[in-house]
Amino acid sequence: MGPAILVQTPRGTRDFGPQEMHRRRIVEAQLRQVFASFGFKEIQTPTFEELELFTAKSGAGIIDELYAFKDKGGRDLALRPEITAAVMRFYFTSLKMEPKPLKLYYFSNCFRYDRPQAGRYREFWQMGCELIGDPSPVGQAELIALAVQLVDAAGLKNYILRLGHLDVLRAVLDASGLSKEGRKELMRLIDKRDVKGFTAALPDAADRDRLVRLFETQDLEGLRELADGAGCDEAVESVAVLLGRLERLGVDPKRVRLDPSIARGLDYYSGVVFELDAPKLGAEKQLLGGGAYDLSDVFGEPSVASLGFALGFDRLLVALEAEGAALAEAPGPDVHVAALTEASMDAALEAAARLRRAGARVELESTARAPKKALQRASQVAAAQSLLIGDRERESGQFTLKDLSTGQQRSLTLEQLEDQWRPRVAAGSQARPPTG
Ligand code: HAM
Repeated sequence: MGPAILVQTPRGTRDFGPQEMHRRRIVEAQLRQVFASFGFKEIQTPTFEELELFTAKSGAGIIDELYAFKDKGGRDLALRPEITAAVMRFYFTSLKMEPKPLKLYYFSNCFRYDRPQAGRYREFWQMGCELIGDPSPVGQAELIALAVQLVDAAGLKNYILRLGHLDVLRAVLDASGLSKEGRKELMRLIDKRDVKGFTAALPDAADRDRLVRLFETQDLEGLRELADGAGCDEAVESVAVLLGRLERLGVDPKRVRLDPSIARGLDYYSGVVFELDAPKLGAEKQLLGGGAYDLSDVFGEPSVASLGFALGFDRLLVALEAEGAALAEAPGPDVHVAALTEASMDAALEAAARLRRAGARVELESTARAPKKALQRASQVAAAQSLLIGDRERESGQFTLKDLSTGQQRSLTLEQLEDQWRPRVAAGSQARPPTG
């Protein structure tokens, strides 16, 4: 045997215990319901992809941010840093004959070689969606309303949706005398909202007054002023229409703020872009981001206008926790079954098996116990009820079911015990049987 080593989770990854998984699954179910209510269908793509899928649009520079590796066959692969490119690959290889627009959603882990901190991990989960194939203005409004409804459904109280348009951003940069060269660095500073760095990097000839307003504009009036004479009236008016539609779709206008400075770090967007923040979270406050894009050129295919977003699932949970949202506790078993003697162990096994088939969640004690010890164990595992099986029960076929919160006891046959759960399972309900 070699020396003992203490193996930890790799940097930026986490273990999730039963309580945490329970909470995550509850929030996940709430989110899935919202996607279903908007007619989105779930898909899944592979955990790793050909490296080229991610470098094709973003360039080789992105490799620093990826878990990229060669497999044993010498292929260049990468763990997915996001899902949009993979969904588009799936679309172009297999789904392009489907009626459009296609409404697809996903819930998957992603991997980025980020610097880990609170709310930023190297393995994290995204729940996101893509509306593929010419999303109409109404489709766009619906998708953004869906984004808002997700965080609402999870019970988040403090959040703000920021909405921008890349045609407006680009037109304002053009109209402000910024040449196309050198714009990449400026876009990076805009994306980071580094106003100081941005103004310092501006060339002398730039229209500083207008450019600084990129970061200050928050409403439609401001946007119209900012874009005045920049030649992007159509985009500005499309934003105006979008705002009206969001309100019709039940999005509280107080939750929406215009932000023409949204540049989005990824390289594939054009048109409308949006981000949703939980302002109290500080540096990693961005819960969700997305926008309009067209990745068809990566696949050498004719243009397919699409729109999508991804919600950082882990960040949503951090935000809910920061708000002190009532967290669901993982429930204990419905019944704790214990044999009181070795001779009754077979009867206990049979009772546990039959109750499980009837739909109950059963914790079976693995060794025979004295009644006091058995009840202690039942409360330790937070069981709702306890079933103690001794020689008398085994011989008579009458079992005593004890409700552990009220202390009430009932004498039932095995069939009657099963009937406690059976009708509920048939009705599709997870509820516990009435006790007492
Ligand atoms: P993204 O803004 O790169 O967009 O990521 C979406 C969300 O994932 C972020 O808003 C954030 O909440 C979460 N996220 C990103 N990196 C991390 C991390 N290291 N740890 C925890 N959470 C993180 C996209 O990925 C696009 N594919 C969204 C999209 C879909 N655009 C169109 N369709």
